Amino acid sequence: MLAKDISTGLDIGTAKVCAVIVERGEQDVPRVIGVGTSPSRGMRKGIVVDLDKTVRAVVDAVEQAEQMAGVEVDSMYVGIAGDHIRSFNSRGVIAVSRPDREITERDVGRVVDAAKAVAIPMDREILHVLPQEFVVDGQDGIQVALGMTGVRLEVEVHIITAASSAAQNVIKSVERAGFGVEELVLQPLGISSAVLDSDERELGVGLVDIGEGTTDVAIFRDGCIRHSSVLALGGGNVTNDIAIGLRTPLSKAEEIKISYAQALATEPAARGSIQVQGLGGRKDRSVSEAQLGTIVEARMEELLALACREIAKTDYADLLGTGIVLTGGTALMDGIVELAERIFALPVKVGIPCHIGGLEENVRDPRYAAGTGLALYGLDGGVQAKRNGKGHRSAVGRLRRWAGAFF
Ligand SMILES: Nc1ncnc2c1ncn2[C@@H]1O[C@H](COP(=O)(O)OP(=O)(O)OP(=O)(O)O)[C@@H](O)[C@H]1O
Ligand SMILES: [Mg+2]
Repeated sequence: MLAKDISTGLDIGTAKVCAVIVERGEQDVPRVIGVGTSPSRGMRKGIVVDLDKTVRAVVDAVEQAEQMAGVEVDSMYVGIAGDHIRSFNSRGVIAVSRPDREITERDVGRVVDAAKAVAIPMDREILHVLPQEFVVDGQDGIQVALGMTGVRLEVEVHIITAASSAAQNVIKSVERAGFGVEELVLQPLGISSAVLDSDERELGVGLVDIGEGTTDVAIFRDGCIRHSSVLALGGGNVTNDIAIGLRTPLSKAEEIKISYAQALATEPAARGSIQVQGLGGRKDRSVSEAQLGTIVEARMEELLALACREIAKTDYADLLGTGIVLTGGTALMDGIVELAERIFALPVKVGIPCHIGGLEENVRDPRYAAGTGLALYGLDGGVQAKRNGKGHRSAVGRLRRWAGAFF
């Protein structure tokens, strides 16, 4: 099989590292062939804080996926998030070079380069330069300028940057694990490949991924990503609030959240009670579900309201024709769709990877949207970033991988 017919996505999250291997199936329908996950303890809010732990989790997740798939992979499409991510729009203009005025691939490259020529602080690097639309001799709204005729070519691009140190540490974690990074991909861009269909991208949709440490917000409209931002809040904050509010250890708070938390605290009177372990050897106590409901709802409301405010700040707030798609583990919380519909005042659904063949069952979960989407993004050739010649490529052999696992 040709190497380009297999692609691996790697989602290094705050709660878990997830690797997904997909292959190009019949009639170009992608098939999931391997999935691996490992608890992640070396990340905080999308940032690597413990390289060794992150490396181990990467090795573990990828090896599981390789075993399931029965293939070995060398390099992967790796997601990046964190509140160090920034994005802005920029424009580039050039004169078309050929005497017959036909726009060539070189012209498209030049105009994108011109749009990219903006001052970026020394400690940041460009992740993606995403063309939004081309303008040929004043005619706007052009998606593909290649082959058209004109004198003046302009482009509107969405530029996404990351803190260099954060990006380098993600790359280092993967390389120390013995793999190459095909491309660092903004997390929502990867997720969109797994959960959004072309109608949603076209008519407008807000994508909100609520993980453990971060909440990624992105807007897609007219086929492109139009806005992206990352909030340093996630399901971990809910767990923390439960631990403090009910005075119980974090591990117990997490269990309580998974078993009982409701984003919408309805009918408190009809609720039962929960046995809660005390802190530092204190006695167990009984706490009403209503008390838990108040804690959870307050934080979930804050989190979703912040995501809503991010969207409201843009020019696209009224253009989300299809509503909001929620992904990430926190999207599994009971009542989140209802609460989000109330806050966004838009239809909301939970995004689950689907319309893929193979071991699809293993990724039917909003937590796997990122890993699966990154792999699918890679299968498409990572077009977006290749177009602008960016990409962190490195061929790292299997031997380094072993070395990485031990040092
Ligand atoms: N049934 C559930 N109800 C509520 N929360 C849940 C449920 N299942 C998982 N979670 C929460 O989802 C979060 C993990 O989600 P996910 O796996 O998407 O995070 P991550 O990608 O590792 O983190 P991040 O994207 O923030 O770096 C945890 O906070 C976990 O408690
Ligand atoms: Mg995540």
